[in-house]
Amino acid sequence: MKLRHYHHHLLLLLLCCSFTETIEPISTSIAVGVAAALTGFLARYQNIFHYFQECCRPEWISFNKTALQADLESKLFGQHVASRIILKAVNGFMTNDNPKKPLVLSLHGWTGTGKNFVSGLIADSVYKEGMDSRFVHVFTSELHFPHASQIDNYKSQLQQWIKGNVTNCERSMFIFDEMDKMHPGLIDSIKPYLDYYDKLDGVSYRKAIFIFLSNAGGDSIIQTALDFWKEGRNREEMELKDLETSLSLSVFNNKKSGLWHTSLIDKNLVDFFVPFLPLEYCHVVQCALSAMADRELEPDLKVADQVARDLVYFPKSERIFSVKGCKTIDSKLDYYT
Ligand SMILES: Nc1ncnc2c1ncn2[C@@H]1O[C@H](COP(=O)(O)OP(=O)(O)OP(=O)(O)O)[C@@H](O)[C@H]1O
Ligand SMILES: *[C@@H]1O[C@H](CO)[C@@H](O)[C@H](O)[C@H]1NC(C)=O
Ligand SMILES: *[C@@H]1O[C@H](CO)[C@@H](O)[C@H](O)[C@H]1NC(C)=O
Ligand SMILES: [Mg+2]
Repeated sequence: MKLRHYHHHLLLLLLCCSFTETIEPISTSIAVGVAAALTGFLARYQNIFHYFQECCRPEWISFNKTALQADLESKLFGQHVASRIILKAVNGFMTNDNPKKPLVLSLHGWTGTGKNFVSGLIADSVYKEGMDSRFVHVFTSELHFPHASQIDNYKSQLQQWIKGNVTNCERSMFIFDEMDKMHPGLIDSIKPYLDYYDKLDGVSYRKAIFIFLSNAGGDSIIQTALDFWKEGRNREEMELKDLETSLSLSVFNNKKSGLWHTSLIDKNLVDFFVPFLPLEYCHVVQCALSAMADRELEPDLKVADQVARDLVYFPKSERIFSVKGCKTIDSKLDYYT
């Protein structure tokens, strides 16, 4: 036993000696090697935990323009105007190292036209974890701020949340769903964060992204789309300028929409108003086909056509636009397949 042990050591010594004189430098160089490797590793992922757990660093947060462009082209149907604005706006903002204010997008349009869906695509292109990221926050008036009587509590709570989250990570994203149902006072309370301030109480909000979703202005967008259709013009010819005036007027003048009361608009805090067009039969077919693909089903045009034909369209006489957009398509598939 002992002899064998001794032999083993000798063998090791011989082996080592063919490279260096003594054992000492070897163990030292191994130590140095290990240390170097470790330092290299740690330098890359300064804290090893950041490798496994999401943190506010480029490993987890970095904008991929190619991915956003590809997603907008292949997954979003019938929204050529919105698609163009969003790609330009997000790319411009994310590639600017020193933005003067946070990015504020206001998405408008009829129900089921893809406003929440696009917010998800934007989140996917910025955060590795997409909508599941702990730096993406979604507020819904009915869920987070249901009681008008508690508005003062909500105000200070919301301000604390925004401040706290941006202090944790300047690349935070805040999505306000159903903005038109939001109490005007609540919208007013977040106004300072959207403005051109270098810092507020030592916190800079200039790298944050705010996205407002609402149906406000949806009617005027539909009217413009309908006018195009009646004139026999191609939907794809529609440009932002065709929609912009009527959109801002209707958002402005609609006393029911919270935006109307606030100075979000007159202080130019919203960088882009993004119109979402009502969806037509052919877009619904595309939605059905992609819902099948998501379920790893064989795309079946017959089924997609059936799903689309069974939806309700408006105006009653012409039956052009889907009343629910592409909403409920996914659940309808259960019924048809
Ligand atoms: N333009 C679109 N292209 C592709 N899919 C769409 C589109 N619009 C809607 N969808 C599909 O329909 C679902 C519902 O759409 P979404 O929730 O984005 O509608 P919305 O505009 O937010 O409506 P609402 O105003 O009622 O909240 C999405 O998850 C998506 O699967
Ligand atoms: C960006 O997205 C594209 C398409 O999804 C992908 O091929 C590419 O690897 C991504 N780039 C980076 C740097 O992650
Ligand atoms: C961040 O926002 C969430 C709501 O999305 C809130 O629950 C949380 O307390 C906020 N974090 C901080 C540090 O304020
Ligand atoms: Mg929605």
